[in-house]
Amino acid sequence: MAPLPEGAAARVTTGAATEQLELAAAWRLLLACRSTPLESGPLGLDHGGALSRAPGDAWISLDTAAPRAWRPVRARPLSPASVQLFDIYVPLLARPSGESFVLAHLGQSLDGRIATHSGDSQWITGDADLEHGHRLRALFDAVLVGARTVELDDPRLTTRLCEGPNPVRVVIDARRRLPMRHRVFADAGAPTLLLAAAGREGPRLPTGVELIEFQAEPDGSLCARAIVEALTARGLSRIFIEGGGDTVSRFLQQGQLDRLQITVAPVVLGSGQTALNLAPIDTLSEALRLRSASFRLGEDVLVDCEVAVDREA
Ligand SMILES: NC(=O)c1ccc[n+]([C@@H]2O[C@H](COP(=O)([O-])OP(=O)(O)OC[C@H]3O[C@@H](n4cnc5c(N)ncnc54)[C@H](OP(=O)(O)O)[C@@H]3O)[C@@H](O)[C@H]2O)c1
Repeated sequence: MAPLPEGAAARVTTGAATEQLELAAAWRLLLACRSTPLESGPLGLDHGGALSRAPGDAWISLDTAAPRAWRPVRARPLSPASVQLFDIYVPLLARPSGESFVLAHLGQSLDGRIATHSGDSQWITGDADLEHGHRLRALFDAVLVGARTVELDDPRLTTRLCEGPNPVRVVIDARRRLPMRHRVFADAGAPTLLLAAAGREGPRLPTGVELIEFQAEPDGSLCARAIVEALTARGLSRIFIEGGGDTVSRFLQQGQLDRLQITVAPVVLGSGQTALNLAPIDTLSEALRLRSASFRLGEDVLVDCEVAVDREA
């Protein structure tokens, strides 16, 4: 678990029910921040539940220049759960609005696997990490997955385990090989964008599914930077890549990830699909060493890493 901000531990609210209420209100504050450009200063909710910068309403004080971007205000005691909620999500929200921000998350075993050989991956990590995934869906504009995740998991990609809006769903299926019976295309739960290579024929698109075509590379792949630019141009500047390993690896390899989150569960698969696959390196000096913070999610540990993004790549 991340260390508590100075003084927070001494001001912990007691009582499980009070803490749950407080956590729900803290989450509502984060949701309210979702669509507002955030500046340093006090931040809270007014009596009507709207975002307020009045010092009297303040829950927290934002400091966009600080590493975790917030600190508690003296008048408001916070439970450790709320402190962790702000520690995890405030840094993701306190960013210049309209600028691309790409975060990828994977849940892996102790031995670095995200699925068995047969593709079974539900679930490696526990309930708290599942909820974290839904919180990310609620805070981001778009949730993006690769074709194999749709094929094997048939995810809905909507926000269900916490309060919050559904993101626009984005599927990379460059070859247009996926049938439209998958839920992300067929359930009308939220708009879906299908990213494919220009000129590919495919099944007729249901209402609510839109095709975006890209000039593919000679090997048939779509350029990660072009994807980020196209989504940002549509107002989808906060992009959450939910998997799988191949898709996350391509964005990381091409310098298009701002943040990489890996949740490690105390589970050993011993075989199966590795989380990340990047170009081979010879020496440890070539390894990506990332600045990180870690958080306890039930039995699992979330490692939240900053990545040096290269938008000019
Ligand atoms: N533990 C977790 O956090 C987690 C999360 C999500 C999924 N999963 C599991 O991970 C497995 C799927 O992951 P995966 O790594 O095999 O596949 P994936 O990342 O879901 O999908 C990879 C496929 O997507 C297409 N694709 C992605 N990026 C592309 C690009 N830039 N250009 C062109 N095509 C692109 C390609 O489709 P084509 O094959 O058509 O070329 C590629 O083979 C499943 O078993 C799933 O259950 C685990």
